[in-house]
Amino acid sequence: MKLSKRLQHIEQMVTSDYTHIWDCCCDHGFLGASLLSRQAAQTIHFVDIVPELITTIENKLQQFYLNSLSDWKTHCIDVAKLPLKEYEGTHLIIIAGIGGDLMNQFINDIHRKHPNLTIDFLLCPVNNQFTVRQKLIALNVSLKNEVLIEDNRRFYEIILVSSTSDTDRKVSDVGDDIWQSNTTTKANIVKRYLEKTLNHYSRVQQGSTDCVDHIISAYRNKV
Ligand SMILES: C[S@@+](CC[C@H](N)C(=O)[O-])C[C@H]1O[C@@H](n2cnc3c(N)ncnc32)[C@H](O)[C@@H]1O
Repeated sequence: MKLSKRLQHIEQMVTSDYTHIWDCCCDHGFLGASLLSRQAAQTIHFVDIVPELITTIENKLQQFYLNSLSDWKTHCIDVAKLPLKEYEGTHLIIIAGIGGDLMNQFINDIHRKHPNLTIDFLLCPVNNQFTVRQKLIALNVSLKNEVLIEDNRRFYEIILVSSTSDTDRKVSDVGDDIWQSNTTTKANIVKRYLEKTLNHYSRVQQGSTDCVDHIISAYRNKV
């Protein structure tokens, strides 16, 4: 199984040691399986709300990862209800491939239910990145890493944050490092992502009563 470029980048951003990694909204479980193959944590958890998906993953894990050095568990549950308290140690929660509004609900619910747990989140929303960043700012999490990638002609921000305020780096409303480029290829991706995002919000501005002027200004300041 070959990971998409987007999932490969997400996978490569898992560099710390964690006791538990939660591959949330795992779908076919490709990301979690890759993390399991390289024993990225003591336990890799596969989480999805669709029973058929979890049954298929469970069968494949039984078949191919029965003697894996890392443990694995499957959970057919809503991401908002992760049973973190049942598992001691450090947690990385990965949420990718869903919209920003749903992602915000998950982050909010998890944060509200586990205010005292130190949790890292690795996030890759498919849209509404600005809204996700607003949520992370409101929760006062600290920024560990952020990258911008292009995969199959779509752009993705991947953001790694920690619920502790152990670094001085804060999440900014439109990102910082993602706009930096040290190669012409990267500069080109940055330029096209900015154009695409500004075009999107210009259309929103014309077609709705929602005020997005502040969002457009924030992105324009990146030029
Ligand atoms: C498009 S897939 C994303 C797969 C993978 N994470 C990726 O980035 O490619 C979205 C998955 O989210 C799952 N999902 C949607 N709502 C969910 C919820 N409330 N709790 C758990 N999984 C959910 C769906 O069943 C689906 O498998």
